[in-house]
Parts: sequence; C-alpha cells; structure tokens
Amino acid sequence: MSLSARLARLVDRSTTAVERASVLDAPSEALDRLASRIPVGPVKDLLSGVALGHPLHPVLVTVPIGAFTSALALDVEGRQQSAARTLVGLGLVSSVPTALAGLTDWSDTRGAERRVGLAHLALNVVGLSVIGASWLARRRDPGTGRFDTPGAWLTLTGFGIVGASAWLGGHLAYAMGVGVDTTAFQRPPTEWADAVDDADLLEGQPVVVTVEATSVLLVRTGGRLHALADRCTHRGGPLHEGTIADGCVECPWHASRFALADGAVVQGPATRPAPVFETRVVDGRVQVRRDEIRTLRLNPVG
Ligand code: FES
Repeated sequence: MSLSARLARLVDRSTTAVERASVLDAPSEALDRLASRIPVGPVKDLLSGVALGHPLHPVLVTVPIGAFTSALALDVEGRQQSAARTLVGLGLVSSVPTALAGLTDWSDTRGAERRVGLAHLALNVVGLSVIGASWLARRRDPGTGRFDTPGAWLTLTGFGIVGASAWLGGHLAYAMGVGVDTTAFQRPPTEWADAVDDADLLEGQPVVVTVEATSVLLVRTGGRLHALADRCTHRGGPLHEGTIADGCVECPWHASRFALADGAVVQGPATRPAPVFETRVVDGRVQVRRDEIRTLRLNPVG
C-alpha cells in the first residue's frame, strides 16, 4: 500500500472515531444552549449567509487563514516583523465573526456532524490560543531574522493546529454535506408528470406527493397553485410539516421560510432557494414539472 493510501486510511479512521465519539454529545448540548441564543431572524440570516446565497463561514475563513499565512511568509523572509505581528492580530480579530458564523451553522447540525463540528471548533480554540500567545510573544520580542523568535514558532504551531481543524471543516462540507443544498442531487421530472387530484388540494392545506422519486409540496393559496421541492434546502426538513402563512412555507426544523411563488429564501438559515415546479391541471389531475431555468442545470452526479 502506498504511503498516501496509508495516510488516507489513518485519517479516515481518525475521523470515523470522532464521528462515533458520543462522549462529545454532552459538551455539544452545553454549547448548543449558548448557540441557540442567536435568534432566528436578521442576525442569524447575516451569520448564515442568506444574502450571499451561500454559507458565510467558508467565506470568512479566508481572512484569518490568509492573514496567518502572510505573517508566516514574512517570518520566512525574516523581515517586516511588525507587519507580521499586525497580520497575526488581524487574523485573531477576524476569527471572531468567522467563529460566530461557524457556530450558527453548527447549531443546526445533529449526530455525527455535530461531533465533528465540535472537534473542529475545539481544535480552532486551541490553535487560536497558541496564535494569540504568539502575538504577545511577538510584542515582547519582534525578532530581527528568520524564525528567530518564540512568537514566529508559536504562530507556526498554532497554524498547524488550525490547519488540522480546517481539514475537519472540509470533512463536514465535502464528506458530510453540511452547507450543501440538500436538493442539489435530486432528479425531478422535466416532463409533465401526474401528481394529484386537483379536488384534493384545498386552500392553504399542503399536500406532499412523490413524483418520479422526488417529494413535491403542493399548496393552493389565494386560488393559486404552488409546487416546491418538499425537502428544505438547508438540512432537508420536510416542508409539508411546516406552516403556510403570508405566501410562504416555514420549515419545521429551523424555521427557514421560502416564498411559495418562486421558492426564494425569505428567512434563513437556508441560503439556497427551494426548487419550484410548474403546474397545470389536465382532466382534473394536477401535473408538475421542473421549471425551465432549473432544468437547464445539468446534474451528472445525481
Ligand atoms: S432544515 Fe433547517 S430550516 Fe429547514
């Protein structure tokens, strides 16, 4: 077995151990009590990245990582020590909103994802503490050459720990799908498909039907028929169990709200709109198909 294959196996086993570590559940609950103080609404929307249409946390991460990397580059050069210390400070300050955005995302996870997320957070706390110590050390002794001060070495050590944490963050996104639109791999009908009796759709009463393996939420409001993917794009909550009000459906899991007319996110934490379907009634039967724009998206993975 090659070295890279062995390394991949070791990393995979380590991550699996974290995923199964039920010992992390008690501290997770304690932290969740803190995280749940971020109320649903504008603040949570901001931290979730609703305005961006993508999660905010991965975007903010670039600032501290970039700042620490730049500081270390100056350490390698052995010059501009005061600029290096400023960069370390910038990285530390920018870690605060980055952590808050991550905490918001984490608070909506469960099970193995939540354990990996907690390990990600714990490693970041340790790594950033070491980098914080490096900032203090740099203030006492800025140094005059390449890695000739404890501060530079502490930054490098903390950066390594934060790097390990970043790997776990990547695992959350790429292996566990946290932050991914949960409808991304659905293959809804692109041709008109039979769904339900028109007479069964009563005003304001949602109905869920399975059309070609895709769950579709149908609801009539103000005499108009709406059809959306029943799976919430945030973490997959069943929208038909949510509430219908003010032209929106509210997810029962974390209260994201989607406009019935076009699926737009009216309230997060979801960042992606709900896929909408065209509808028509033929011989008393409602038919649906994916709207034209969405069907243009090719989906080889699905
Ligand atoms: S699953 Fe989180 S808001 Fe719907």
